[in-house]
Amino acid sequence: SRYALILAGGSGQRFWPISRDALPKQLLKLFGDKTLLEMTVDRLEGVVPKENIVILTNKQQEATVRALLPFLPSENILAEPEKRDTAPAIALGVGWVVARDPSATMMVLPADHLIQNVAEFQKVLINAAKCAEAASSLVTVGIKPTWACPSYGYVERGKRASVLGVSEVAVYEVARFREKPNPDLAEHFIAQGNFTWNAGMFIWTIPAIFSELSRHCPALADFVSELRGSKDFCATVERQFSKLPKLSIDYALMERASRVLNIEATFDWDDVGNWTSVGRYLKCDSEGNQHNCAMTQMNAADNLVFSQTGQHIALLGVQDLIVVASKDAILITSRAQAESIKKMSDLLPKEL
Ligand code: GDD
Ligand code: MG
Repeated sequence: SRYALILAGGSGQRFWPISRDALPKQLLKLFGDKTLLEMTVDRLEGVVPKENIVILTNKQQEATVRALLPFLPSENILAEPEKRDTAPAIALGVGWVVARDPSATMMVLPADHLIQNVAEFQKVLINAAKCAEAASSLVTVGIKPTWACPSYGYVERGKRASVLGVSEVAVYEVARFREKPNPDLAEHFIAQGNFTWNAGMFIWTIPAIFSELSRHCPALADFVSELRGSKDFCATVERQFSKLPKLSIDYALMERASRVLNIEATFDWDDVGNWTSVGRYLKCDSEGNQHNCAMTQMNAADNLVFSQTGQHIALLGVQDLIVVASKDAILITSRAQAESIKKMSDLLPKEL
């Protein structure tokens, strides 16, 4: 059977003052009345049954996640005792699934992306699952890159692969996987033309992921085996999790794994990394002011205003600003400096 493992335990300050330690990107309502996490779960409708959707989060965010997804079985929401990045999180998910179905297919999905074309997304996902099952490979999803972004993983495509039963999507062999190259290397990859961005989605069968983990991340494979054999799942997690290496799956496994395939993403994809990306999806007035709330402006152009609680925002004689109002704090920054919000957030008092 098919399972979805949703990675929802990341943190982030880039959306301050809306985001806080316990309220990262995936738990924010940036686009209307649903959080990115809820939208991620909704996108699986018809592809993965609710009882096979597993959410990986941490203790700090657990209560919020449970409140957002009351329709999932309670045991499907797993709270990591501490943040150890995505490789241990995924191993925990593999351990949970293997105890139920040792031959399952798993789709590992980030919880914090915006994807609007659900039909096309589901088509790619279903074909990725077929691919993982027929070729016992680790399947990645390739996004057509638009610039040399150094904060993504890059997948170097080899030749077209033909996989039995998969004809609706383009599948490629993978020559190598490079996580977050430096800017020069990223430029070089883009110039070469045969690289795609890694969407951060991974599709594989339990036997395939277990054998790759055994070869490249034995500590994680041991953890999976221990979870599988354990009578008290939670106690095993409490005892072992904090001893696991703190690494992302991209560095821990994907850069080293041998049997990797890449499927072309034919859906829209946005990692929504900052306020500027959010602005692109908001309403926009004739002067280029993007807004999610009621606003009044005079001699103001190209600003972005976002209000968490629906306050009215008025702009007079300002340009290229980002103004964000939350319940207890307000951010005002020039668009040009918006990349430094994370850095600035280190200077904030602890309660913010
Ligand atoms: N459960 C859990 N535990 N989830 C986590 C943890 C953790 O410790 N750390 C991060 N996550 C979640 C995040 O919430 C997000 O949904 C997903 O895992 C990916 O983590 P990020 O921290 O956002 O990774 P990234 O953006 O730097 O890089 C990954 O995604 C890129 C595309 O957005 C990589 O896979 C890149 O190769 C890829 O290009
Ligand atoms: Mg990310």
